[in-house]
Amino acid sequence: MSQKVVAVYPGSFDPITNGHLDLVERGSKLFGELIVAVLRNSGKNPLFSVEERVEMMREATRPWANVKVDSFDGLLVDYAAQKKAKVILRGLRAVSDFENEMQMALMNRKLDGNLEIVFMMPGVAYTYLSSRLVREVVQLGGNVRGLVPPLVSKRLHAKLDGDRVKSTASPSTRTR
Ligand code: PNS
Repeated sequence: MSQKVVAVYPGSFDPITNGHLDLVERGSKLFGELIVAVLRNSGKNPLFSVEERVEMMREATRPWANVKVDSFDGLLVDYAAQKKAKVILRGLRAVSDFENEMQMALMNRKLDGNLEIVFMMPGVAYTYLSSRLVREVVQLGGNVRGLVPPLVSKRLHAKLDGDRVKSTASPSTRTR
């Protein structure tokens, strides 16, 4: 096959972690073009707006020339078709990821039989890492150095440090 293979790496990325970037790096070596697609309308009530997540991802993926960043809405298979992507890339950290990922992969394949879903494992140092845990650690005053890019850490603190100061300063939360 001489044509370059376009792959889409979709996710909420709320926010990106070094585990996501590890996967981007691996994917960028395997595919001609890798489109990181940030989910626009997540039911998860994201901490960062889609514009913020795209901006952080663009900044963090600047080292890889064949990586593009975009946002999407609606069905992933429709977005992939629009981008002429043949591959959906997802990360598998642990067995616990498998069931949900398998369901999504098989549903996507049912919706579009031309797509291949490719799983890659991040480096072992990132197998326990998730955006949810990163948000929680920062919210509770912990350190996420080495787990997210410095620009993400800065944005997390800018968003969450104020909340923590407010909640610890509140007499009602201290006395109850
Ligand atoms: O980072 P996440 O939250 O695990 O990513 C989930 C994502 C964005 C891959 C998934 O929610 C998705 O593909 N959403 C688009 C809607 C869709 O196509 N659903 C049906 C296929 S499973």
